[in-house]
Amino acid sequence: MKKVDIYVFSATGNTMKCAEELKRNLVELGSEVEIKRIENGTEKVESVGDTVVICYPVHGFNAPTNVINFSKQLPLANADAYILKTSGEPLTINDDSSKMVVKNLRWKGYAYKGEFHFVMPYNMIFRHTDEMAAKMYKTAKERIPAAAQVVFNGETHLKKISAKAKLVRGIVSIEHWGARFNGRFFKVDTDKCIKCMKCVNNCPTKNITYENGKFKFGNQCLLCTRCSFNCPVDAFKIGMMDFMRVNGKYNFNADAEQAEIGKYCHKSYTKYFSEDNN
Ligand SMILES: Cc1cc2nc3c(=O)[nH]c(=O)nc-3n(C[C@H](O)[C@H](O)[C@H](O)COP(=O)(O)O)c2cc1C
Repeated sequence: MKKVDIYVFSATGNTMKCAEELKRNLVELGSEVEIKRIENGTEKVESVGDTVVICYPVHGFNAPTNVINFSKQLPLANADAYILKTSGEPLTINDDSSKMVVKNLRWKGYAYKGEFHFVMPYNMIFRHTDEMAAKMYKTAKERIPAAAQVVFNGETHLKKISAKAKLVRGIVSIEHWGARFNGRFFKVDTDKCIKCMKCVNNCPTKNITYENGKFKFGNQCLLCTRCSFNCPVDAFKIGMMDFMRVNGKYNFNADAEQAEIGKYCHKSYTKYFSEDNN
């Protein structure tokens, strides 16, 4: 039986939803599948199965730092490797985000076979409607069985990356440093805060502490927004990026048929939904 290890970083749940769907489909095909979480990126892996799938949300046209670090410390293996990524918009400039992860995988001896990209609602930048979130998830669910089949068969699914995507990824990789810097300017409105400590307990890099009635922020922020997105009273200010803050879970059970594609990236969303571009 084919053993597939799915490693997932998901700050606010979108990537995990897709990874779980991939698992469900792979199990149906007859694979033995385990999902393991990537959090701060230093998780030790002793050995891997026949295939690994690394799943992450695109952050600033790149993979998040914890995912890149995680890929560096995978054991040497000649297993097949795939990437599953989610992002808020379907622009092709997201295409090169996997570069560092792929480089590390190849360096460790993995046979990198390609990637799958699913558009899911923004957890930062702006809030999609619940109808749009439902349409995105529905579309991902329709396309994931084909992705599972590719993984199950060990087929290649490589993407041609444009020069523009490579250039943008390179420039915006400053986001990794910027996230750590900006993280120091996070604030919690203590009048609103109900001290549920979800932010402290769930931060992937344990960057938030609460001492003597005060929240403190270290220099390991990934700007993943798990803290601010899941804050039940929207008490977070996320530094210089606060104007892009999105708070609160999406209702993925909303009526996907009612989703309207807005003006923003209208062409690329229309293209994404209309063709089977996976
Ligand atoms: C810091 C940050 C940067 C992001 N950058 C991009 C981006 O460059 N392109 C994009 O399409 N979406 C971007 N997004 C949106 C996420 O990739 C998207 O919402 C993703 O599905 C979130 O997945 P998660 O819920 O598993 O964390 C960004 C989100 C964050 C928090």
